[in-house]
Amino acid sequence: MIEVSSRLMQEHQLILKYIDLLYRYVDSDKNNLFLEKAPLFVQFIKEFADKYHHAKEENILFKALEEPGVLTHCNPVGQMLHEHDLGRQFVTSMIEACDKSDIHSLKENAKNYGLLLRDHIFKEDKILYPMAETNLSEEAKLAIAVEYQKVEDELDGDKIYKNFKTLYDELELAIN
Ligand SMILES: [Fe+2]
Ligand SMILES: [Fe+2]
Repeated sequence: MIEVSSRLMQEHQLILKYIDLLYRYVDSDKNNLFLEKAPLFVQFIKEFADKYHHAKEENILFKALEEPGVLTHCNPVGQMLHEHDLGRQFVTSMIEACDKSDIHSLKENAKNYGLLLRDHIFKEDKILYPMAETNLSEEAKLAIAVEYQKVEDELDGDKIYKNFKTLYDELELAIN
């Protein structure tokens, strides 16, 4: 049996680790350090969470779930897409806050991003992905697996993981 969510759930774990670390920066009084390192968090969010992970959801899995007859009772895909957009708005506000060295706004938007994404990931792990496993046909899952692999090859998923695990260690060391 083919499954289509374990890789995405694994990616969620790295996103959640980064959010926990982001909160340590928010809660610390090292404001200058946070202003200096925030662009690296933004880089992770844009390249890993958004380009690599959300792109797979939006362009592959969600599209398959929106095919007629797949999700007949309730379809949470619209809400998930809305939350991706909200997340992007918080990230834009984080970038603006960095440009203005506005630590208050940076912390506020970082916190809101973290809250949103923790809740979003919980819903995907517990509701959307199980729905996908139950409702997609084996044929559809096979097609999704092929599309995922294309993204892995195109973006070099192993390298992205490695680079962002290294960056995580650097960011963690800096706040200790
Ligand atoms: Fe998502
Ligand atoms: Fe996700």
